[in-house]
Amino acid sequence: MGVPLFETSRPLEPLRDELRAAVTRVLDSEQYILGPEVSAFEQEFADYCGVANAVGVANGTEAITVALRALGVGPGDEVVVPSFTFYASAEAIPATGARPVFCDIDPDTYCVTAATVKKALTPKTKAVIAVHLFGNVAPIAEIEALGVPVLEDAAQAAGSTSPAGRPGSLGTIATFSFFPSKNLGAFGDGGAITTRDAELAERVRVLRFHGSHDKVTYEEIGYNSRLDELQAAILRVQLPRLNEWAARRYAAGKAYEESGLGEVVALPRPADGATPAWHLYVVRSESADELAEALSAEGIGNRAYYRVPAHRQPALREFGDGIELPATEAAARTNLAVPMSPALSAEQVRAVCDVARSVPIPLP
Ligand SMILES: Cc1ncc(COP(=O)(O)O)c(C=O)c1O
Repeated sequence: MGVPLFETSRPLEPLRDELRAAVTRVLDSEQYILGPEVSAFEQEFADYCGVANAVGVANGTEAITVALRALGVGPGDEVVVPSFTFYASAEAIPATGARPVFCDIDPDTYCVTAATVKKALTPKTKAVIAVHLFGNVAPIAEIEALGVPVLEDAAQAAGSTSPAGRPGSLGTIATFSFFPSKNLGAFGDGGAITTRDAELAERVRVLRFHGSHDKVTYEEIGYNSRLDELQAAILRVQLPRLNEWAARRYAAGKAYEESGLGEVVALPRPADGATPAWHLYVVRSESADELAEALSAEGIGNRAYYRVPAHRQPALREFGDGIELPATEAAARTNLAVPMSPALSAEQVRAVCDVARSVPIPLP
């Protein structure tokens, strides 16, 4: 039985008429940039996250750069960031003039912790980027208790929940990506920045529009980084379904657990009390390559993520040289994503587990 690694279009099938109507509405409005759809989506997404402010931006990478700038990060500052993440989490830092300082992760949750962040703090640390990796929820309050502002990189965690609230509402500021394959995906690039702090939100609004309040005076060097009307209209159709999709993603993770997949590979552990809307379901095995081969032979999608973590990427070499991150290296070497989507069936979960059981486990 073939199983895709993720499915973007099938969950959207019942929404096709609504999506078409949304596109037509934008076409008819002749307002394509920063109009009523973006304003409405910003309000709806802020309400969803449980904060007062959301600002639409062009993508999840610029969201991080703009949010860091809004926090006042610039040349001479350091920003702590995990290395086991999509490269963009770290790439967004030098764009502000600051230096990324890499920290390790908890191997079971794949997220940073207060202990891993603490080791990377220096007097120059201006902010910490905590990535809610694969949909899990990083312990933001514990990290902020270290006395630094935390930017949540929630690109992969739309729809997740934790006892303290949703990603997007836990730190000083948070960023999202609406890349099509994300839990909440546009039909192109898109992103958002959320924050409880009205002043920070205003700084973000100015920065996303060339550093200007009024389009007449340009007060600081900013960005042209806007979510467009078409993407906002498409996201507005999907947002009311996000909770249902998130619940199905969580249930698919539970189904993997209950099918005994954890007897043959290490499963991701939800952070304390969290209900992750698994963006990717990433297991670990010393036989990850053999498992990948066996799954592919059965037409089952799989992919290793971040085999070369950010601190060892050529473009970031000057920031990563000489750094030792043992949990990052182990996760990079042994991880494998297996199929995950809101449409994953019990039969498909069983097919993945059957193949995983057929792969010999290496002796310790
Ligand atoms: C953790 C993380 N941060 C940042 C990004 C960047 O988002 P975008 O591709 O929208 O620029 C992504 C996704 O692509 C991501 O997964």
